[in-house]
Formats: sequence, structure tokens, C-alpha cells
Amino acid sequence: MPSSKKLYVKTYGCQMNVYDSERMGDALRPLGYAPVDAPELADVVILNTCHIRERAADKVFSELGKLRDMKAARRLEGKRMQIAVAGCVAQAEGTEIARRSPAVDVVVGPQSYHRLPELLFRAQAEGRTVLDAHFPAASKFDALPSRIATGQGPAAYLTVQEGCDKFCTFCVVPYTRGAEYSRPATQILDEARRLLALGARELTLLGQNVNAYHGVGPDGAIWGLGRLIRRIAKIDGLSRLRYTTSHPRDMDDDLIAAHADEPKLMPYLHLPVQSGSDSVLEAMNRGHTADDYRRLVERMRKARSDIVLSSDFIVGFPGETDGDFEATMALVREVGFAQAYSFKYSPRPGTPAAIARKQIADNIKTDRLAALQELLAQQAAAFLQSSVGQTVDVLFEGPGRHSGQLIGRSPYLHPVHARAPQALIGKISSVRLTKAMTNSMTGELLSAVAA
Ligand code: SAH
Ligand code: SF4
Ligand code: F3S
Repeated sequence: MPSSKKLYVKTYGCQMNVYDSERMGDALRPLGYAPVDAPELADVVILNTCHIRERAADKVFSELGKLRDMKAARRLEGKRMQIAVAGCVAQAEGTEIARRSPAVDVVVGPQSYHRLPELLFRAQAEGRTVLDAHFPAASKFDALPSRIATGQGPAAYLTVQEGCDKFCTFCVVPYTRGAEYSRPATQILDEARRLLALGARELTLLGQNVNAYHGVGPDGAIWGLGRLIRRIAKIDGLSRLRYTTSHPRDMDDDLIAAHADEPKLMPYLHLPVQSGSDSVLEAMNRGHTADDYRRLVERMRKARSDIVLSSDFIVGFPGETDGDFEATMALVREVGFAQAYSFKYSPRPGTPAAIARKQIADNIKTDRLAALQELLAQQAAAFLQSSVGQTVDVLFEGPGRHSGQLIGRSPYLHPVHARAPQALIGKISSVRLTKAMTNSMTGELLSAVAA
């Protein structure tokens, strides 16, 4: 197979974009494209973009400015550079990209990645920007080639569900990723086996609403995520399973029970709550109250006492009062999160909240975000500190910062550095945690406990 052509992919946004970027690599590999790590060396550059907040979307246009110059420089050397914009900005602002950035050859939405080879070919033949950002009836998953490379070692991502029907009033995802779609279980099981054969030991099942999964099982029945997890856990060679991102409304009894009785399911759950105020939650159309969330956390902890929680928060949603914000702080103090992401509300075109009256001034958002982040940082630090002295299983994923060190993840997803031989990459080892750093831990290797 020729492999003289070079591909550079830059990924923004969520893990589903990371997964999609790998699949775009899979789609182009049969045409002879091999990855490079600098855009100026590439025949094809793909920006896999994110539209979730204004800042995320803005990055694309500044990056395109740089790429235009690189493309011109390559042309002077008689070399080609095709630029493709993929992902959620392509879906939401495809026409605008084609108009503002004529150096872009292809604009391709998240449902059309299987058509990438054809789109690149057409753009070259026709000498103009080619755009494909519709939601086709057939799934891209049926049309993409099988997984060729994991690209990310022992811990791999596997998209099982895509899209969202929840329409939270702040969020672009239902518009950029379309309606909820669950892949058939057989297709997921095949891909899981393939990833394990390529060296994965841990799989993270992905979906914008992963726990809304409702795919057809091999028996013709509709399977929920709990059932899918139990089935995947039986595959030989798999050591660990995770899933993300979940919606509180879709944590059903079977999925909660799976945390109690499936040891391969890791004790870590990212469960975004967004706010602790019922009136804000209602205005966000989240479909749950703060107390619903508290009860759910209680049930999760009952099912798996050592489960650690992570969450997403938005501050300064339209109409958020000091009292509403205080309710968020109270919820955080009560629940306790090992890890979290928090954002200032960013009005997104086309979403209902963007045109709501009572938008919150930026200085208030800044102050609230700082207060929330300080509390969350304290909780994250306290969690890492409380782990010192514990012995945990670490799946080593690659070389660490210093020579002789490896880095891996504990069951609780904290990054752990330890002195260990290269041969332990891809293996699970027992490590005693000795020191907490800002976002990671250092430990001492005790022994390799599992293959
Ligand atoms: N599907 C996931 C979240 C996807 S987006 C869920 O339902 O929770 C990831 C996070 O980005 C969200 O949880 C939210 O906290 C944040 N986010 C989404 N839209 C936003 C906006 N307009 N402004 C600020 N943060 C936003
Ligand atoms: Fe966005 Fe809400 Fe859907 Fe999550 S559940 S992707 S926040 S609309
Ligand atoms: Fe961003 Fe699209 Fe993911 S908007 S967060 S890349 S689904």
C-alpha cells in the first residue's frame, strides 16, 4: 500500500471528536495517507471543530488564517495542501466557512465522514470548496471502514450513541449532531473485539447522551446501556470499562445495578448537573431538580461505595440570581466532586437561551466562576490528598514525564506517575500512591497484577 501522502488532524472539543478524528484517519488510510504531527508537512489537514462555546468556535477561524499561509507556502514549493473543516462548527456554520475562508477545500459535518475521500477528490477536481453537512438517512458507522488503528494505546474510545434529543436551552449539540442514534449492539461488540485485538485493555463507551443508549441487541430486543456494558464486559482481554457523558435523567435501574455487580465497570462517573438551582435547571430544560440529582448520587454511592463523581457546571445562565448561584455552591459542598468542568454561560446562535432577557453581565459571570472553581479545586485536591497511602490498580498507558517513569490511570481516572519498566505499558499493575500533585499522583510500583 502506498503511504507517501501525509495527513494532519487537529481535534477540538469532546471525546467524540477524538473518536471521529481516528475514524477519519481510518477512512483515509486505504488511500495511502499516514499521520504526521505538523500541519506544514501535510497534504491534507483536517480541523475537527467544536461549537459548544463561542471561544471554541472562534479558534477555528484563527487557525484557518495560519493554514491559509501554510497552504500558499506549500504551493510555492509545488506541493499540495487540502484543508478540510469537520465537526460541529462545520455543521453549524458550513456556508459561512466556505464564504469567509476560500482556502478551505472541504466542509464536512459529523455524519458524513465516510464520504471524506470522495469530497477531497471532488474538491481537487472541481477546484472549489465542497460542502457536505446534511444528516443522511444511513449511518456513517455502517459506511466507515473497520478500525485500522487505535492511535491511543491501551485505553480506547468507542462511540456507541450519537446526537441528542434533550434540547437543553443553552446547547448546540442537538443542532450540530442531530437526533439521538444508537448503534446496533453487534456492531459495537465487533468494534470492541477489534480494538482489543489492536492492544486496547480499557474501553470508554462514548455518546453525547451515552446512557440514553437504546440499540438493537443480537436478540432483536432493544438494549439499554446497562445490558450493553454487561455484554461487553464478557469479551476476553477486556480489563476495564467506562462510559461518558451521562444525563441524570437516563441513569436507569439496570445501569445503576451494573455499577454494583460488574467489577470491570470502573468506579468513576461523569454526571453533569449544570446548576444547583431548580429555577435555573427548569429554564435550562434539564428535566431534573437539584434534589433528583442528590437522590441519584445517593443511589450511585449505595451501588458502589467508592464511586467518584465528576460534573459540568454553567454559571451566569440568563436570569441566574445570587441565590441561584449560592444553590449551586451548596450542591457542590454537599455532593463533593473529585473532578469537574465549569464554564461561563456562552450564548450560542439558534439556541433559546441566547435570546432570553436577563443575560448576566460578564463581570458577574467571572466572579461566580472564580468562586465555583476555587471550591471545585479544593475538592479535587482533597480527593487526591485522601488517596495518598492507598494501593490502586494502574493501567499504564505510556512513558511519563521523566525518563524511567510511566504514566497510567487509576480506577478513579486520576493520572498516576510511577517508575516502571516500558514492558508494563498496556498492563495493569499495583501501585502505592505516595504523593498528590495538582492534577495527578505519584506512586511506587508494587507488582504487575494482571496481564
Ligand atoms: N451531553 C452532555 C454535555 C455536552 S456539552 C450533557 O448533557 O451534560 C459539555 C458541557 O459544556 C455541558 O455539560 C455544559 O456544561 C457546557 N456547555 C454546553 N453549552 C454551553 C454554553 N452555551 N455555555 C457554556 N457552557 C456550555
Ligand atoms: Fe446538550 Fe443537554 Fe443534549 Fe447534553 S443533554 S448534549 S447539554 S442538549
Ligand atoms: Fe463540541 Fe460538538 Fe463535542 S459542539 S463538545 S465537538 S459534540
